[in-house]
Amino acid sequence: MGTTGEKYSAWAEVEARGVSDLYFDWATGVAADEEILELVDGLPAAKRQPNLVFASARMAGVPLAPYREARSEFVARWDSIRGVALTHATQTNEVRRCAVLVPELAKIPGPIALLEVGASAGLCLYPDKYAYRFTTESGVDELAPESRSDVVLETELRGPSAPTRLPEIVWRAGIDLNPLDVADPASREWLETLVWPEHDERRRHLHAAASVVAEERPLLVAGDLNEAFEEVVAQAPADATLVVFHSAVLVYLSPEARESFVGKVRASGAVWISNEGKSVVPEVATQLPANADNGTVLAVNGTPVAIVGPHGQFFHALDVP
Ligand SMILES: C[S@@+](CC[C@H](N)C(=O)[O-])C[C@H]1O[C@@H](n2cnc3c(N)ncnc32)[C@H](O)[C@@H]1O
Repeated sequence: MGTTGEKYSAWAEVEARGVSDLYFDWATGVAADEEILELVDGLPAAKRQPNLVFASARMAGVPLAPYREARSEFVARWDSIRGVALTHATQTNEVRRCAVLVPELAKIPGPIALLEVGASAGLCLYPDKYAYRFTTESGVDELAPESRSDVVLETELRGPSAPTRLPEIVWRAGIDLNPLDVADPASREWLETLVWPEHDERRRHLHAAASVVAEERPLLVAGDLNEAFEEVVAQAPADATLVVFHSAVLVYLSPEARESFVGKVRASGAVWISNEGKSVVPEVATQLPANADNGTVLAVNGTPVAIVGPHGQFFHALDVP
């Protein structure tokens, strides 16, 4: 598994390089800093991940400055950083993921009952309320709800033609270990802090989508997705197609818990849309072509249909036999 320093170094290269210069600098700095590594190693293993430590540092007042300047603040504020890390979790709610969900949701005719497991604040439960700009090989296709939307999500679409209708969602619910309420200022601040420093557009989307959610709150149930699943499914209207989806969630579950969830979702008869890392859902992983692009896998009912950007930046259709 490697030392914490090795993990920070790998995270800098794999996750942060070219995505956030500041987090790349911080992660490379921490990786080579014995004193800070000792502090990080004093956290429980699940709390040592750079994304959580850096968001906690920002909440604790560490300035967004190069590591050589910020380092002394990591030391001076470590008790607060530790306090935030111990009481918070990485719950990044990325609304742009709706842009890669909509091409599949739009294929479902008639009313949809939408259940998201691992919903965080529920921002992805409103794909029908946002506007889209799909960049395809032949140009840009726009799709927007009748009532104006301040959330305009862009994605590059390779393969299918852009959807021409929005899904009709008549019921929406989420399950999360710790559902976040967008109307609560502390939760909103945490959601904002989880967005990486330079990613202003993501922060703008977050604000605009939070206003949509605050206007029409979804049913958000606190609990483990396996434990709460049947109870929430039972509340879905019977005359709508039940769609269960999740993104960047199953990775937090043990292999046994992932398998149990897949069994439950299949038994429910729902349309199952999964958006997870390539190795997270074993039955999806085995069907992936060896030369698949980098990204996460969008799968429908266990069949991979596209490689998508981790934050919904692109949808590259797969030609799976
Ligand atoms: C990285 S966030 C992704 C949020 C959202 N799906 C999105 O794509 O924007 C992962 C979410 O899964 C939730 N989660 C993790 N394990 C869970 C479990 N066993 N049961 C329910 N929710 C869980 C976390 O609390 C967190 O809100």
